Amino acid sequence: MPTKLVVGNWKMNLSVAQASALVTALTDDLSARPNVDVVVCPPYLSIPRVKELTRNTHVKVGAQDVFWVEEGAFTGQVSSKMLHDQCVDYCLVGHSETRGKFGKLEVPESTIGFFAETDETVNLKIKALLYYGLVPILCVGETLAEREAGRTEAVIETQVKGALEGVESAELYSFVVAYEPVWAIGTGQTCESEEAGRVCRFVRSTIASVSSDDAAASVRVLYGGSVKPTNSDELFAQDGIDGGLVGGASLEADGFARIVLSAS
Ligand code: PGA
Repeated sequence: MPTKLVVGNWKMNLSVAQASALVTALTDDLSARPNVDVVVCPPYLSIPRVKELTRNTHVKVGAQDVFWVEEGAFTGQVSSKMLHDQCVDYCLVGHSETRGKFGKLEVPESTIGFFAETDETVNLKIKALLYYGLVPILCVGETLAEREAGRTEAVIETQVKGALEGVESAELYSFVVAYEPVWAIGTGQTCESEEAGRVCRFVRSTIASVSSDDAAASVRVLYGGSVKPTNSDELFAQDGIDGGLVGGASLEADGFARIVLSAS
């Protein structure tokens, strides 16, 4: 069974000074080194400082997004090569906020194209990360409308298969996939733990169908969407859930450390 993993996604929050204070408090809280892998994903600007502050700890650093071309005229983008240069270990790909409307209905339809990742761009990003030895954290999940239409499995299968197109089984050994139902992100509405476990097991069987049972068994499948210290014990106890991807609750050191302990 793979070591459990808890990832904090800080999203577009915290100045460099605030990010430094948070990671310092977190590494203090986790100084007893629970038997859990821990990753924090700060905004790009805070990565060098957070990397420095985590150097002698077991906390690893991830980015929140990447562009798939190495370098060139792509204003505003950051490549896998650049993340590798900063010794970044992990990177989120296909988060529902980068796939679409940032989960907000009030984003004008005309702007969606600026944010919308597709399964094809997710796949390009994964290949760019693997080329530079970074571990992708692929996010998949259905919207409320898709769930209500009984399309949860179909949506997830399409996202997983699209993301892994042309990726070798051997490259999946350190891979991470996070099941994040879009309707549970930042809403306080958590997926029932048994249902979260069931969908996480479905994610793993989908990975096995395009690779091998061994490779799929080694992938860490996380649950994400309103994970909090009050629900993490139950979620992480489910068969098929190897840890969590935590947004809002990762912005407070003691609470996030409590969530990490739930996985140990
Ligand atoms: P949340 O975010 O924990 O605030 O719901 C999770 C995520 O977006 O990864």
